[in-house]
Amino acid sequence: MIFNTALLAIGLAPLLASAQLSGTVGPTTSYATKASNKICNVLDYGGVADKKTDIGPAISSAWSACKSGGVVYIPSGNYALGSWVTLTGGKSTAIRMDGTIYRTGTAGGNMIFIEHTSDFELFSSTSKGAVQGLGYEFHKEGSLSGPRILRLYEVTDFSVHDLALVDSPSFHFSMDTCENGEVYNMAIRGGNSGGLDGIDVWSTNIWVHDVEVTNKDECVTVKSPAKNILVENIYCNWSGGCAMGSLSTDVDISDVLYRNVYTWSSNQMYMIKSNGGSGTVSNLVLENFIGHGNAYSLDIDQQWSSMSTVSGDGVQLNNITIKNWKGTEANGAQRGPIKVNCAADAPCTDVTIEDFAMWTESGSYQKEICNNAYGSGACLKSGSGGSYSTTVTVKTAPTGYSAATMAADLKTAFGTVSSIPIPTIPTSFYPGATPISALAGAQATSS
Ligand SMILES: *[C@@H]1O[C@H](CO)[C@@H](O)[C@H](O)[C@H]1NC(C)=O
Ligand SMILES: *[C@@H]1O[C@H](CO)[C@@H](O)[C@H](O)[C@H]1NC(C)=O
Repeated sequence: MIFNTALLAIGLAPLLASAQLSGTVGPTTSYATKASNKICNVLDYGGVADKKTDIGPAISSAWSACKSGGVVYIPSGNYALGSWVTLTGGKSTAIRMDGTIYRTGTAGGNMIFIEHTSDFELFSSTSKGAVQGLGYEFHKEGSLSGPRILRLYEVTDFSVHDLALVDSPSFHFSMDTCENGEVYNMAIRGGNSGGLDGIDVWSTNIWVHDVEVTNKDECVTVKSPAKNILVENIYCNWSGGCAMGSLSTDVDISDVLYRNVYTWSSNQMYMIKSNGGSGTVSNLVLENFIGHGNAYSLDIDQQWSSMSTVSGDGVQLNNITIKNWKGTEANGAQRGPIKVNCAADAPCTDVTIEDFAMWTESGSYQKEICNNAYGSGACLKSGSGGSYSTTVTVKTAPTGYSAATMAADLKTAFGTVSSIPIPTIPTSFYPGATPISALAGAQATSS
């Protein structure tokens, strides 16, 4: 196959996306350089593209042979993954995954677990590589105890891009204690159930952009500890919605920016969730959000009843800006577009809500709730001390609430009992926006 490495290399130059990040993200060596060192094709290590032979041992052998500098190559074709792979200790490596991997094994854990690796890239050069988790086989039996698809642990200077992760038996993609990463041009499509998180990140200096998530749990969610996280151009296309949490004790999250987040038919547009606990969340910006058909919109809930109370006065939220939110919520009388329910013993401080215009899709009024939250905008109180509780009823639609929809909004859920089709990676993740980096497949075909 002809593969234009020169063109691909352009997209791989480390980028400093914004002051939000603390430094460059992504691999430090280009794909072309890695490929010129060594290519370990799984077909040469016992792999067979017959959707039957377990590809696990072949991936592990290819990794061992190429992990000190080179490319593990999974050519296009259909593969079976019967045993999970733990890929550890790589340096200057890439995994070019152009094939489709179907889960056949049934163990718990992580189907693909990458740890202690630096200068790393996991991607599909055609934007067609996919992992099909066939999670419905578990979900139709009422079980969420199957494996996660992908987990990165202590990986630094890395990117993951142009892949579809489909119907995970459990979470789709977690980044745990990683650094300097970029995740982009991804489609994640799971079952219509809780427990099937899209992307969860607790790490430092990570840029997640141009990602679509369908499921009924986390879209792109930050957990603790985390610092310098930039999340943008996100399409929660029938999901739980983006969030922070659940937060518990000794929370340490700062400098997080979400912008250009489109949320359709989800539980919320953004939620910060905790119940008791300790530690801090500071310097959070949620900017340019569009929502339609969601239950909650802005939902800061520090007395979240779905979580059992943990000891402590509450997580301290400080310096939180919510800016330029537009669109409509499902039922504003039942669940209004603004709910800022902070802990009575740890009131939120320096909260700003501005340029916020949302209206209800049913009924003629909507509620705004502010409890123990200080700052400016909506029902927030100025100042900083003491507990209070306010509910405001809004009877007139705010001007300028109407907002674009995405033409391809999912009209019905995929459910949990039958196979979910592998999607193509979309070419827009937010109304009017194109991906920050062109899809790898588009670059390859235009060359
Ligand atoms: C508040 O957060 C914003 C955005 O992250 C940041 O630019 C600003 O410096 C923070 N303010 C303080 C007082 O830390
Ligand atoms: C939203 O989800 C539906 C169902 O997966 C899909 O048909 C549609 O293409 C998705 N939208 C985009 C932009 O990918």
